[in-house]
Amino acid sequence: MSQPEFWLHTDRLMLRRFTLGDRNWLRDLYADADVTRYLGGTKTAAQVDHLLETRMLEYYDAHPGLGIWMTVERATGERLGFHLLNNIQGETLIQVGFALAKAAWGRGVGTEMAAAVLRYGFVDLGLPRVVAIASLPNLASQRVLEKIGLRRHGVRAFAHPAYAAEGPMAWFERDAPDWLAERALPPPH
Ligand SMILES: CC(C)(COP(=O)(O)OP(=O)(O)OC[C@H]1O[C@@H](n2cnc3c(N)ncnc32)[C@H](O)[C@@H]1OP(=O)(O)O)[C@@H](O)C(=O)NCCC(=O)NCCS
Repeated sequence: MSQPEFWLHTDRLMLRRFTLGDRNWLRDLYADADVTRYLGGTKTAAQVDHLLETRMLEYYDAHPGLGIWMTVERATGERLGFHLLNNIQGETLIQVGFALAKAAWGRGVGTEMAAAVLRYGFVDLGLPRVVAIASLPNLASQRVLEKIGLRRHGVRAFAHPAYAAEGPMAWFERDAPDWLAERALPPPH
C-alpha cells in the first residue's frame, strides 16, 4: 500500500486521503452510537464499505479537490476523525463537515481543521459559497460551524434518503467574498 500523502497541515493536525487500509478504523467509528448520534445512526460493515468506496475512494478523482479526508494528529500519527468538503447528497451545493472519534472531542480539533478546510475551499478552490447542515440538537457541530465563520440561516430539510429521516436541519452558509473580506483576504479571480 502506498504511503499516505498529507496535503493540508495545521499546528496540530494533517489531512490525507482515505485508503482501503482505513476500512476497519472507519467501521469502528461508525459502530459508535455516540459519534453517529447525529450522523444517521450506526452503520453496518457493509454500509461502511459502500461509503468508503463511493463517497471516499471513487469520489476523489471524480471531483478533483473535493472529498472526505482522514484527520491525523501530527505528534502521534493517530487517526482522529475526518473532515470533508463535498456535495450534499442529491445537491450540487458544497458543504463542509467533520466527525471525530470520541477520544478526540473537546480539544478544538474539530474547529482547527474545519477552519483550514474552509479556507482551502474559498482560497485555493475558489468556491463561491460553502454550506453546512447539522442536526438541530447537535450544538457542538453548530458551534464549530459558527467559529469557522459560517452563518446560520434557519433550517432546511432534504428529500435524499441520507438526510430525510432527520427532518429539518440547522442550515449554515457563507459566500466567499464576505468570508474573505472579513479576513482581509483578496477576492477570488
Ligand atoms: C462535532 C465535533 C466534530 C466537534 O469536535 P470538537 O473537536 O470536540 O469541537 P471543538 O472542540 O473544536 O469545538 C466544540 C465547540 O462546541 C462547544 N460545545 C460542545 N458541546 C456542546 C454542547 N452540548 N452544547 C453547546 N456547545 C457545545 C464547545 O464548547 C466548543 O465551543 P467553544 O470553543 O466556544 O467553547 C465532535 O463532537 C464530533 O465528532 N461529533 C460526532 C460527529 C458529528 O456530530 N459530526 C457533525 C455532524 S454535522
